[in-house]
Amino acid sequence: MAKIGVGVLASGSGTNLQAIIDAAEAGKIPARVAIVVSDKKDAYALTRAKKHKITHFFVDLSSFSSRAEYDRHLISLLREHKVDLVVLAGYMLLVGPEFVRAFPHRIMNIHPALLPSFPGTHGVADALRYGVKISGVTVHFVDEELDTGPIILQEAVPVLDDDTEETLHQRIHQVEYKLYPLAIKLFAEGKLRVGGRRVRIAE
Ligand code: GRF
Repeated sequence: MAKIGVGVLASGSGTNLQAIIDAAEAGKIPARVAIVVSDKKDAYALTRAKKHKITHFFVDLSSFSSRAEYDRHLISLLREHKVDLVVLAGYMLLVGPEFVRAFPHRIMNIHPALLPSFPGTHGVADALRYGVKISGVTVHFVDEELDTGPIILQEAVPVLDDDTEETLHQRIHQVEYKLYPLAIKLFAEGKLRVGGRRVRIAE
C-alpha cells in the first residue's frame, strides 16, 4: 500500500509525535512523517524530528502580520512537503478557518478526555476536578471550532482515587500512543467515512 505523507504540528514535548514516528518506521502504519512544524522554538518535538532526520521547522507566529498570514504560510509549507494528512499533536494554537478549509477532513487532533466533556487546554485537570470516574482519549477531525469535530476513535481511561493530574495524564498518554497511530492507519487505508458528525470505520 502506498504511504501517505503526514505533517505534524506540535508545540511541546512531542511524545505522540514519537509514537507516530515509531509506528511509521516500524512499518505498522502506511505513512511517513513528511514534516514537523512547531510554533515553539524550543519544542522537544523538533529535536525528535531532527533525530529521525525528518524535515522540521520552527515557524514564529510573531513574525507574521496576522494569524491568517501565519496559517497561509503553514498551508504552503505542508503542501510543498506533499502532506495528505495534518496531525495536531499537542499543538497549542487553534487552527484558523482557512487552514481547516485547505485540508477538509484531513486534519486530526488528539484530546486527553472523552469529548464533548472537558474540551480546551486543561482536559485532564478539568476531568479530575469535576470528579468523573472515567475519562479517556478522543481522536477527532478538526473543524473550525475548538475540539468539536467529528470523532474518529475514543477509549476510556478509569480515574483512580489517588490520581493526580500527572498520574492520570500518564495513563492517558499510554492510550494516546496506541490510538493516534491507529487513527492514522485507518485514514491511510481509506477506511474513515465521514457523514455529518459521524465517522464510520469501513471493514
Ligand atoms: C497530549 O496529551 C494530547 O492529548 C494533548 O496534548 C498532549 C501532547 O503531549 N492535545 P505530547 O506533546 O504529545 O507529549
